[in-house]
Amino acid sequence: MPKSKTRCIGILTSGGDCPGLNAAIRGVVKAVIGEYGMSVIGIRDGFRGLIENRTTPLDNPSVSGILTHGGTILGTSRDKPYRIEMGGQEMDMTATAVENARGLGIDCLVCLGGRGTQKNAYHLYDKGGLNVLTIPKTIDNDVPETDTSFGFDTAMNIAAEAIDRLHTTATSHQRIIVCELMGHHAGWLTLGAGIAGGADVILIPEIPYDLDVVAEHLRQRHRTGKRFSIVAVAEGAFSQKEAESAAKAKKHKPGEEKKKVAEAKEGKHHDDEGGFHHFDRADYHMVEEPKASRLARQLQALTGTEARVTTLGHVQRGGGPSALDRLLCTRLGTHAAQLLAEGTYNVMVAVRGDGCKAVSLKKVVAQKNTVPLDHSWISTARLVGTCLGDE
Ligand code: F6P
Repeated sequence: MPKSKTRCIGILTSGGDCPGLNAAIRGVVKAVIGEYGMSVIGIRDGFRGLIENRTTPLDNPSVSGILTHGGTILGTSRDKPYRIEMGGQEMDMTATAVENARGLGIDCLVCLGGRGTQKNAYHLYDKGGLNVLTIPKTIDNDVPETDTSFGFDTAMNIAAEAIDRLHTTATSHQRIIVCELMGHHAGWLTLGAGIAGGADVILIPEIPYDLDVVAEHLRQRHRTGKRFSIVAVAEGAFSQKEAESAAKAKKHKPGEEKKKVAEAKEGKHHDDEGGFHHFDRADYHMVEEPKASRLARQLQALTGTEARVTTLGHVQRGGGPSALDRLLCTRLGTHAAQLLAEGTYNVMVAVRGDGCKAVSLKKVVAQKNTVPLDHSWISTARLVGTCLGDE
């Protein structure tokens, strides 16, 4: 058995779950035990489990048969060690988390998660001196310094299939269907699934859209005899008018956003232009109108074509991982084991082409990964005539 500088690891999954978490846990556990003879402690429910000392030993049989399973056998949470709700109060529990890890004999804490998890893990290293190693997971694909994150491929497949299915019903009824996808502040999932599913309009946060441009694109499709239109909109997308009004509010009145929320609660409704008017309490639900519903309502009014809404929501991250994600998770997990054996800590295992590479966690947490405007997926979409809402 090759020599290992690490004897015992803790492993946790944190942030929103996604397909591939179990495959990655399996990859790490099988390799660290089978190849390097380490011991593994599973931590329940993300950083909260570490703070509350809730653990489970992991061995080869406990990860057997989980490669194809969705979710995470360890459970997850969005809790941050430095700001966690404990007994009705927000507390900084960094010291407890580090103390517990040391008490368990953990040489390095392996954290599987997205951008928030990378930050939390870095915090435990930076402020608490705990050795950590991370693996990038997220359907949003917004973790920097890596070609991709596991979970993204599966979510893109699910969303593309959903868009395929919307085509047949939209064409039967001659409708516009607005389909909302996840992605937080990044447009990768909507752009990728939108191109793969042949959406006619793709709206992402990186390109604020002009409602009139979108409506004209749909009217033009109608004039040329198209019986339907599919609009894929990212949950974080916004219009040019919304972008302008947010920029103005930020520049002139720093507390404006908070004020708007308070005003909405008092019964004043903010309109689509970023202004507001009073309305009855009976109309209060309008403040909460989901993005896709509002867009569908606006496009129906501007085009005269009946519109419907589909929000894919958590379906996008439920169920088992794709073959590509299973492969990716196994590559990332086993590469993590090699790094642990050689004592390389405080890094994220990044995907680089067909290989993996350790990148400094400090570098990862200093950036974010949204779609660059000169990215080839953007020009690809434009070249097949997809409207991105700006021209
Ligand atoms: O970060 C992954 C993600 O699925 C985002 O795309 C989405 O905004 C968010 O999580 C939803 O999280 P939840 O409903 O689990 O709080």
